[in-house]
Amino acid sequence: MSTFKKHIEQYRTGYLEELKLVKTSGDLEVFRIKHLSRQGLLSDIMNKLKKLDLEEKKIVGPLINTLKKELQSSFTEREHQFKQEQFAAEKLKTKNFDVTAYKPFELQGSLHPYTLVVEQAEDIFLSMGYDIVDGPEVEQEFYNFEALNIPPDHPARDMQDTFWLTLPEYLMRTHTSSVEIHTMKSRKPPIAIVVPGRAYRNEATDASHDFMFMQLEGLFIDKNVSLAQLIATMKMFLQTFFEKKDLSLQLRPSYFPFVEPGVEIDMTCPFCTDGCSVCSRTKWIEICGAGLTHPNVLKACGLDPKKYSGFAFGFGLTRLAMLKYGITDIRLLHSNKLNFLKQF
Ligand code: PHE
Repeated sequence: MSTFKKHIEQYRTGYLEELKLVKTSGDLEVFRIKHLSRQGLLSDIMNKLKKLDLEEKKIVGPLINTLKKELQSSFTEREHQFKQEQFAAEKLKTKNFDVTAYKPFELQGSLHPYTLVVEQAEDIFLSMGYDIVDGPEVEQEFYNFEALNIPPDHPARDMQDTFWLTLPEYLMRTHTSSVEIHTMKSRKPPIAIVVPGRAYRNEATDASHDFMFMQLEGLFIDKNVSLAQLIATMKMFLQTFFEKKDLSLQLRPSYFPFVEPGVEIDMTCPFCTDGCSVCSRTKWIEICGAGLTHPNVLKACGLDPKKYSGFAFGFGLTRLAMLKYGITDIRLLHSNKLNFLKQF
């Protein structure tokens, strides 16, 4: 029996010595497994106790119980000590954290080409007295089509492949022209607004088409508005935007149900004089759809077409960004590719 007692005592001393030498919380876990787990050394001793006869058990049993408690509490104490040390070290780290310290940036952020183009376009139109207006991207059929003189069975609906929502009469707006309606219904003329925003079309994506793209809509409503005013406004905007004073425009007849007459506006290529890859060697670049606001649109918004007239235009902001920065693949604009974004 005394050998067993001696064994216990030896084990106790060894255990405490070893515990003192533990330096990291990783080592402490190794220590715990070695001694205190189910297959650990302390369990071994407990199992040996079971083999002793009753008389011996009576004497050794309480000894082992005290030993177990002592060893467990010295372990917990050490564990606690570690936690405190770790906490103090963390605290020291933040205490010495200098928020004013200068570290040269390895990667400096830059504005997305969309943001750059939107800001420039907004500045130009603001300088001409326009307001910047926003509108919903999830839109009702009425604002996107009907009020724009595109009734349900109108073939022009086929021009814009639409993402319909399961909610009846709701869709992702196919153009920012819908904001013309919101504005004419809520403001009184004279109205001069531009609307930069996203538009959605159910298209297969390739280098020049995406299912989402940015447009810049413009609307001017007043008395006696003429096509000449539209042309002058477009010319002023494009000359400033492309920083090219001798930029000329040409108008081609086109069809958009919400304008009459409807035109497609081309500008002389700002990048060449005798043809280049941007203008496909034609010297002209197609830049926006536009026209004089259709009387039906004015009526749908409660404005008297005999009293008021107006013009509207729609730029592809995506196209403006691609032209201005020589971007050849539309998909790059939403790609989050750092190599691309770092250039701006
Ligand atoms: N909404 C037309 C489109 O997305 C563009 C446009 C706007 C045309 C305003 C004329 C007037 O194609």
